[in-house]
Amino acid sequence: MVDFLKNEIFDIISKCGQEMNTRVFVIGGYVRDCFLQRHCTDIDIVVEGSGIELAQKVGEKVKSHVSVFKNFGTAMLMYKGLQIEFVGARKESYRSNSRKPIVENGTLKEDQERRDFTINALAFSLQKEDYGNLIDPFGGVKDLQEGLIRTPLNPDTTYSDDPLRMIRAIRFASQLQFKIVPESIESIKRNRKRLDILSRERIIEEMNKILMSNKPSIGLNLLQDCNLLEEFLPQISKLQGVETQDGKGHKDNFSHTLQVVDNVAAKSDNLWLRWAALLHDIGKPSTKKFEAGIGWTFHSHDFIGAKMIPGIFKQLKMPLNEKMKYVQKLVGLHLRPIALVEEHVTDSAVRRLLFDAGDDIDDLMLLCDADITSKNESKVKKHRENFLLVRQKLVEVEEKDAIRNFKNPITGEIVMDYFGIGPSKEIAIIKDYIKNAILDGEIENNHDQAFELMKKKGAEIGLKKQKENEE
Ligand code: CTP
Repeated sequence: MVDFLKNEIFDIISKCGQEMNTRVFVIGGYVRDCFLQRHCTDIDIVVEGSGIELAQKVGEKVKSHVSVFKNFGTAMLMYKGLQIEFVGARKESYRSNSRKPIVENGTLKEDQERRDFTINALAFSLQKEDYGNLIDPFGGVKDLQEGLIRTPLNPDTTYSDDPLRMIRAIRFASQLQFKIVPESIESIKRNRKRLDILSRERIIEEMNKILMSNKPSIGLNLLQDCNLLEEFLPQISKLQGVETQDGKGHKDNFSHTLQVVDNVAAKSDNLWLRWAALLHDIGKPSTKKFEAGIGWTFHSHDFIGAKMIPGIFKQLKMPLNEKMKYVQKLVGLHLRPIALVEEHVTDSAVRRLLFDAGDDIDDLMLLCDADITSKNESKVKKHRENFLLVRQKLVEVEEKDAIRNFKNPITGEIVMDYFGIGPSKEIAIIKDYIKNAILDGEIENNHDQAFELMKKKGAEIGLKKQKENEE
């Protein structure tokens, strides 16, 4: 194990501990990741004494600034790209009704007991006499080998210490593709209402990690099966279920959604594209109808879904910024490329899609490709082939007409100058007319043709050239 501790900082920390006459250990994620051979730059140090005092001592030695968080009894410093956090060993981690930790001196054993999972309770000794020894009182290494998420204490105790751990369990299961032991699953189900005391921000931090795992469906399925999803994202939870009428069912929109998220995750690391995949069918439950002779329909679920996005971001306390707009745009447009495939791929429909998607066209195409999930293989094959045609057409049209970053060749100033008018609704009428003419292929996307059209449309709505105005 000493191999993991070859960085000189461990030696320095060890000596500082000795000077303070206290026992010091490396604990938590760093030790776990050593065994998993995952790269880790966050190091947690636990000391049977004052974490802040030890951090200050180490900080002096390595000449690094120490940030002290007095309320939490912790301190942090950076050393050659490593973030090292120091904390005093505690008997108890969190109050039952708050996430503020109690600062209470304890032993290493007590500190390990109050940690979330056996795989996160592993520690390396930094004592001179047994430097590098592994201290694993709960079989964490065995659980790592067997791929199990298990709490050191009775799960009800561990989860009520900090209910976020219920989502963390699922996050680790998703990231590491581990199983949560059955008694923990039962405990999570029992304690799900305790999520209420958590801030949405903490939940979303874990949710983002679930979405960023290689196969997010593992975590999302667990969130659903443990009834946690309905606590903070009921709109997704509601996608589950199949209704049948006149012998006709529809696909289960929950498992479809998870498949789409996995498909996107296999091709892109863009967190917000993964969010768009998760939310793309959010409008389906409220638009679902059974129409005699046709079957199940979800008319306008793209439009309704896009309208729901700001509310969902607000509910999750996620910022209402350009990321939200991006997700909203993709949800709103997610049927358009498929509609192109199903109808006739005309140049003007492609131009309109390019115009509406702008620079997000590639992400939109990726999402739509991921959305093809039918069980009928020949249907999927046909869709994919047609989809290739759309992609080709997109490239051709973009090369010819440069619509992706469309800028109207006629600006408001040009219109005002030519007709000698001030800001007025006529400008919007003319610019819109030109934009539509370009998108419909009536004129090319260039200044000269657009200028001619401006003159024609201006005359039509009663405007006169400036010179004539002056005469
Ligand atoms: N921990 C805990 N309960 C929590 C959060 C953290 O017991 N609710 C403990 C675990 O021992 C964990 C350590 O604090 O290993 C550090 O937590 P954190 O940095 O959040 O997670 P890591 O385990 O390091 O994993 P990651 O870096 O992937 O978040």
